[in-house]
Amino acid sequence: MANSLSELIGDFNKISLYIHIPFCKKRCYYCDFVSFTEGSVENYINALLSEIDLYKDQLKRGVRTLYIGGGTPSFINEHYIKKILEKLDKYLNLEEFTIEVNPDSFDEYKAKFYKNLGVNRLSIGIQSFDEVVLKKSGRTHNAKDALRAYEIASKYFENVNVDFIIGLPGETWRSIESVVDFIRVYTPKHISLYLLEIHEGTLISQFYKKLSDDVYERYDAVLKFLKSHGYERYEISNFALEGRYSKHNLIYWANLDYIGLGISAGGHIKNLRYNNVSTFEKYYTKLKNKEYPIEYKSINKVERETLESIFMMLRTRWGIDRKLIVDLPRFDTILKILSSKYSFFDGTKLNEKGMDFSNLFLGELLKLWEDFYEN
Ligand SMILES: C[S@@+](CC[C@H](N)C(=O)[O-])C[C@H]1O[C@@H](n2cnc3c(N)ncnc32)[C@H](O)[C@@H]1O
Repeated sequence: MANSLSELIGDFNKISLYIHIPFCKKRCYYCDFVSFTEGSVENYINALLSEIDLYKDQLKRGVRTLYIGGGTPSFINEHYIKKILEKLDKYLNLEEFTIEVNPDSFDEYKAKFYKNLGVNRLSIGIQSFDEVVLKKSGRTHNAKDALRAYEIASKYFENVNVDFIIGLPGETWRSIESVVDFIRVYTPKHISLYLLEIHEGTLISQFYKKLSDDVYERYDAVLKFLKSHGYERYEISNFALEGRYSKHNLIYWANLDYIGLGISAGGHIKNLRYNNVSTFEKYYTKLKNKEYPIEYKSINKVERETLESIFMMLRTRWGIDRKLIVDLPRFDTILKILSSKYSFFDGTKLNEKGMDFSNLFLGELLKLWEDFYEN
C-alpha cells in the first residue's frame, strides 16, 4: 500500500483533463450539475474542439488521465467522442481514460467503440436498484437496465466504477439490501457512495430540506458492509478493491494540475483556479472570439493554494502530503492544535470516524487558518 498521495501519483509534470458533456435525456430531480435536454451536440463539440486549441501549451505537457463526464457522455453519439479523441491524440500519454455512462444509453456496441478509442475505465450511474426510488428520482432506467449495463461494462472493462446515492426519495432498508446484494454478487472494483445532497432549485428540494436520521443509519450500514467485504475507503465517498483507485480523482485530491474543458468545467493549473461559463450562449460567444470561456478565476496566493490542497488531501486516507505543499511558518502549530482537540486526526490524516465528521473538522481548520494567515 502506498504511504502518500505523491507516491501513488509519481510524475507530476503531466497534466489531467476533464471534459464536460452537458447533455442528458432527462434531468434527474436531485441533480445540480450543468446539463441540458436540448441543444445542438454538433455545435457544442465544434466549440469544444476550438477550446482544446486554446490550451495547447498546457496539453503539450502530456495528458496522463482523461475523464469524460457530464451530464451523460454516453447519451451523445459515440462519433462525437471519437472526434474529441482525434483532436487530442497528439497530446495523450494516458494512464487512465474514464467515461461516464448511464444504463439506458449504453450497450455492447458502445462498449466496444469506447474500448477501441482507448477507454480503460467506465463509470456507471446506477444510483439505486429500487424501482420506486428510481422513479421518484426521475431516472430513465430501471434496475434491470442497470444490471445489464453493468454486465456489459464488466465484460469489456476490468476497471468499472458504480455510483450510488443514499437518501433518495422513497428509499427504505429494502433499497439498501438490493445495493448490498448487488455488490456481494458482482464485486465491482470501485464504488462511489454518495449521501444525497439537496441543492436549492432542484425539484426534490421542494419536498426535502434535510436528510433524516435513518438515511445516515443506512449510509453507515453500507459503509460497514463495504469494509467487511474488503473495500478500502480511500476517500470520503470512494471505495476500491485491490487498489483500483481513480487515478484522475487522485489528481484532484492531490490538488495537482488539470484542465477542465466544456460548459461549467473547472480547472486548476499551478496557482490558477477557474470555472467555465455555464450557458451555451456564453460559451459559444467567447470561443468565437478565441477567448477562454472562463466565468470565474482566481490566482491563488501561496497560503490559499496550500489551504485548498489541505482541504482536498484530507478527504483521502493518506491525508496531508508535505511534498505537495509549501512549508508555511506556523503550519505545524495548526496541526498540533487540531490533533490535540480531535482524536480522529493524527496530525496528518483523518481516520474513518474523522471522514464522517470532516465538515466540522474542516470548518475549524478554516477558522484557524484565517486567524493565522489572514489577519
Ligand atoms: C455527474 S454525475 C453523473 C450523472 C450520470 N449521467 C447519471 O445520471 O448517472 C456524477 C454522480 O454524482 C452523483 N450525484 C449527482 N447529484 C447528486 C446529489 N444531488 N447528491 C449526491 N450525489 C449526486 C451521482 O451518483 C452521479 O452518478
